[in-house]
Amino acid sequence: TSTAPESTASAARTFTTIGVVGLGTMGAGIAEVFARHGYAVVGVEINDEGVERGRQHLGHSTGRAVQREKMTEAEQAELLGRITFSTELTDLAAADLVVEAVVESMATKKAIFQRLDGIVGPQTVLATNTSSLSVTELSSATSAPGRVIGVHFFNPAPVQDLVEVVQTVVTEPSVLDDVQALLATLGKSPVVCGDKAGFIANTLLFGYLNHAASMYEGRYATREDIDAGMRFGCGYPMGPLALLDLIGLDTAYEILETMYRQGRDRLHAPTPILKQMVTAGLLGRKTGRGFYTYEGPDSPVVV
Ligand code: 3HC
Repeated sequence: TSTAPESTASAARTFTTIGVVGLGTMGAGIAEVFARHGYAVVGVEINDEGVERGRQHLGHSTGRAVQREKMTEAEQAELLGRITFSTELTDLAAADLVVEAVVESMATKKAIFQRLDGIVGPQTVLATNTSSLSVTELSSATSAPGRVIGVHFFNPAPVQDLVEVVQTVVTEPSVLDDVQALLATLGKSPVVCGDKAGFIANTLLFGYLNHAASMYEGRYATREDIDAGMRFGCGYPMGPLALLDLIGLDTAYEILETMYRQGRDRLHAPTPILKQMVTAGLLGRKTGRGFYTYEGPDSPVVV
């Protein structure tokens, strides 16, 4: 684990405007969480199609809350009204915190951090939602690595309470404290960990998911029975194969690969069927087919 160096105490930061870079499943979910709790959010995507996809995701997710009578239409409109969209990182100049949630590519993320470093103010916290890349390496792309931190949300971000707060050896203690206090205002439960691929939850979870995929690959049991085993035997909210479909097989494969490369624990060596499914475009819910087939983003159909 990492130990942050001592630094002088400073008054806590005030967070009013939150930037979110990347409005895919996680980024849109993170934008929704902040907007739900009254923060002004600026969501940045690479192009207009990305913005449109983010808008749709937010409309769908908040629409579900309206349908379930957890939110009125007026509240939905107010929430969505707090989010502005842009295709320019320079629109994040006034953000107090920026959460980057783009694809898991070190080169792409580093380029974004390098640019953000020259755009935001000196007190702004730069955070990444990476699930397995090195936060320390990302921070090295900036002129002030002490203000860089990991905030790893879980899917679906509006539902799961956990956020892993990843502290590097140079993250300033005031940044760690302020981010934890901010997450508490969202009703989230932050846990703090060091900068190691997989952090706490994915390190434990993905060995299990990989094992389940390998069990399916070996035709040891049906997908339904593997999933039922963990749901009804162990009280998990969903079975491992359904969860892989929710996470996305491409994302799951990347996470396993990165953890395996870093830790060489054979539990994390991706089982071959994962790669085959990714190559075949069976990515799970987002493409309509993974271990199961889906009618829409929420409804599994047995084929
Ligand atoms: N977006 C927003 N809200 C959602 C949602 C989504 N995609 N899916 C479900 N919800 C909400 C529903 O609206 C509902 O809200 P309500 O209680 O206020 O009415 C609530 O979640 C429960 O949903 P449902 O009744 O439809 O269904 P379930 O009770 O079966 O819950 C689930 C669905 C929340 C997905 C649950 O099955 C679950 O918790 N599954 C495990 C998910 C998990 O393990 N996530 C972590 C993955 S690992 C990860 O993210 C790390 C990353 O690095 C890969």
